[in-house]
Amino acid sequence: MTRKLGGGSLVIATHNSGKLKEISALLGPFGLKCISAGSLGLPEPAETGTTFVENALIKARSAAEASGIVALADDSGLSVDALDGRPGVYTADWAERQWFEGEPGRDWYMAMGKVEGMLQRLSADVERGGAFHCVLAIAWPDGEHAIYEGKCPGSLTWPPRGTLGFGYDPVFVPLGRDKTFAEIDPEEKHAISHRADAFAKLVADQFES
Ligand code: IMP
Repeated sequence: MTRKLGGGSLVIATHNSGKLKEISALLGPFGLKCISAGSLGLPEPAETGTTFVENALIKARSAAEASGIVALADDSGLSVDALDGRPGVYTADWAERQWFEGEPGRDWYMAMGKVEGMLQRLSADVERGGAFHCVLAIAWPDGEHAIYEGKCPGSLTWPPRGTLGFGYDPVFVPLGRDKTFAEIDPEEKHAISHRADAFAKLVADQFES
C-alpha cells in the first residue's frame, strides 16, 4: 500500500505561481496546506532525467530533502509515436530560442513546426498519434516516494488551430474530438487532460482508498 500524505503542509516543487495556484485548489479540499518551493527559497535542481518519472522525482526529492517537508512535483510533455516519443522530456526545450538582441525566450510556433517538419520528413501519410503525459511524484524527507502517471492520447494536426491554452495546444487533437486543445473550452480541457488523469489517480490512491 502506498504511504499516505495525511493533512499538514506539502511543498509544491515549482517556482511557477500558476502551477502552485492550480495544485493548491486541487489539494486544498483534502486538508493540505500547499507551500511553493520558490517561497521557501529552495534551489531549482537541473532536470537531468531522460523520462518524465525521473525528472518529477528529481524535483520532488530535491524539495523534500532541502525543506524536510513532504513534497510534490510534476513533469509533463508531449510524446509523438512516429518520433519515438520525442520531444518527451525536452518538450519545453524545443521551444527555446535566443531572440535577436534579447533574453532567451520560448517560441511555441517554432517548436510545433519542428515536430511537424520531422513528421513530414518521415512521409506524407505518417501516423500522427501521440499523447500528452503528466507525472506527479510525491517524495517524503526519509526517501520514500509515490508516482502517479496521467496521459491524454490524441493526434497531431497542422496547421495550428485555436488561441486558447498554451504550449503545443494548437496542434494537439485529443482522442475522440475534432477540435485542438487550443479550440476547446479550458474547463473541458481540464476535465480530460493528462494533468486531470494524473491528479485523479493521486486523489483516488491518497484520499479515497
Ligand atoms: P513542465 O512540466 O512544466 O516542464 O512543462 C513541459 C512542457 O510541456 C510545457 O512547457 C509545455 O510546452 C508542454 N505541455 C505540458 N502540458 C501541456 C498542455 O496541457 N498543453 C500544451 N503543452 C503542454
